[in-house]
Amino acid sequence: MCGIVGYIGKKSACPILLSGLKRLEYRGYDSSGICVKTKFGLEYVKRKGRILELEDALSSKNFKNCFVGIAHTRWATHGEPTEVNAHPHFDSTGEIAIVHNGIIENYMTLKKMLIAEGIKFVSETDSEVLAHLISKFYEDCNLESAVVKALELVEGTFGLLVMSKTSEKLVAARRGSPLVVGIGEDEMFVSSDVSAILEYTRRVMYLNDDELVVFDAHSYAVKNLKGAVLGKKIHEIKWSIDQIEKGGYKHFMLKEIYEQPTAIENTLRGRIKDNKVWFDFNIDLFGIRRIIITACGTSWHSALIGKYYFERNCEIPVEVDYASEFRYRNPLVTENDLVIAISQSGETADTLAALREAKSKGAKTLGLVNVVGSTIAREVDYVVYLHAGPEIGVASTKAFTTQVIDLLLISLFFRQRLGKKVDSLVLEELQLLPEKVSLMLEQFEKTGTIKKLAEDFKKYSNALYLGRGMNFPVALEGALKLKEISYIHSEGYPAAEMKHGPIALIDKDMPVVFIAPQDHTYEKILSNMEEIKARGGEIIALIDENDSLVSHLTKNTISVMSSIEEISPILDVIPLQLLAYYIADSKGIDVDKPRNLAKSVTVE
Ligand code: M6R
Repeated sequence: MCGIVGYIGKKSACPILLSGLKRLEYRGYDSSGICVKTKFGLEYVKRKGRILELEDALSSKNFKNCFVGIAHTRWATHGEPTEVNAHPHFDSTGEIAIVHNGIIENYMTLKKMLIAEGIKFVSETDSEVLAHLISKFYEDCNLESAVVKALELVEGTFGLLVMSKTSEKLVAARRGSPLVVGIGEDEMFVSSDVSAILEYTRRVMYLNDDELVVFDAHSYAVKNLKGAVLGKKIHEIKWSIDQIEKGGYKHFMLKEIYEQPTAIENTLRGRIKDNKVWFDFNIDLFGIRRIIITACGTSWHSALIGKYYFERNCEIPVEVDYASEFRYRNPLVTENDLVIAISQSGETADTLAALREAKSKGAKTLGLVNVVGSTIAREVDYVVYLHAGPEIGVASTKAFTTQVIDLLLISLFFRQRLGKKVDSLVLEELQLLPEKVSLMLEQFEKTGTIKKLAEDFKKYSNALYLGRGMNFPVALEGALKLKEISYIHSEGYPAAEMKHGPIALIDKDMPVVFIAPQDHTYEKILSNMEEIKARGGEIIALIDENDSLVSHLTKNTISVMSSIEEISPILDVIPLQLLAYYIADSKGIDVDKPRNLAKSVTVE
């Protein structure tokens, strides 16, 4: 997820591009760049860091009389956030400039082909191949035809905006990454979302997948990639800018919950092929005696699920440690250990310190990180990126589900490397996830069940969350979500632990959330529910869609789509995220910025 802005018209382009980038900064903020057409050709400025750095650098440039330009704010996926990797990217002759959102899956193949033809690459990005490819096909100032020919070779996703030194037209194209075209009076805009252009025009067209628009300041044509001209509806935008940045959702947290189908799709992209799991790192697993997973908060919960995956799939013993505890207990780590550090931000001080401790003792290290180029990503021996896109809400949601998926994928990858067969059912169920999550979210929206439960349960001051097996960490995560954003005290336990103490708390003021999929512990969970009911406790139960028994014990049920055991934590956590969200929101709490918390905990 990055941000694109483009402008052509009668006004000075730079201030428009810059204000658009500032509006899009929530989509990506590790580096940015602008390219404008001057009398000397295409000139650009790029900077690492926030847009303010770019603005600073632009103040020494005289781009006042430039009326066409493209700009980008980046959320790195391929290549660290550096000035060289920042967009725009150019072909070798300086004729073509592009800004791109999305992932070019076959970029390595294309890059090799172009290098063999004598092209020199300057960045580590997948996007740069687009500039060189378009240049290869650019003839007679026909930018449209060059873009179409280039895109014929591309696999993956793109929101793409292209300008050239000699063509009067700009071209934008879309597959998978959103693009909107703004129509003004003798001026045109392109952006990843309308927030960037709303102060200039409210008349917009949305591109669909495999469509492109060719335009100058006065005219445009929307076509499909085969060249057929399409009639496009023009929309009049009525939303405020704030509503739009959040995609129409009230909070970033809610938006990020709803982004999970796309985030999961991006995490899975390119990982499963020919009934196999693919990663491009190579650890000598035969020398590994133990895996230690270390993390904090939500990432620690996904680590707990990872333990089940690695022990089941690799038969290697796994320990999971709070990063803050690990570093201070002089852990017995050797070069035969693989230490996996999980962190959304890649900057959490305790996780970083635990990683350094493990490295100093000779362990091999693997990072599971969302933010490309973050400190943890740079310091580990091997890194796997989540590709979940920026997570802005303090409460982690899509990072959790994508971490769990990556842990499952890595455990299967290790299994293959250890010479064992991977169960194709697990791979099939993984691939079904984006659709299942999307359907489930639709269903929750339609029935309003979770919202209604939230209204009924917001009056309580305490709650227990109970689950077994792989769903015990989901209980912990559900309880953390509730406490951190609604300030309701909540705890997660393995359901069977209840009778060893927590059951003493049960009365009419202690609601209990059960995670009750129909797995091998189902009967036992039913008995636990009976015990709560007998003591007057209120039950909310997450049940399989075809469950018929739990409804005798409680009317407060949330139906979750059925799947296999490995996948159920990913599906089960989503209603718990929503439950916490709706409870907090109905209590009037600023969900994205709950009290005392920060998104990235860079202090001990
Ligand atoms: O960026 P990290 O994954 O390292 O962050 C770890 C925790 O600080 C984080 O998960 C925190 O617990 C969240 N607020 C949970 O929603």
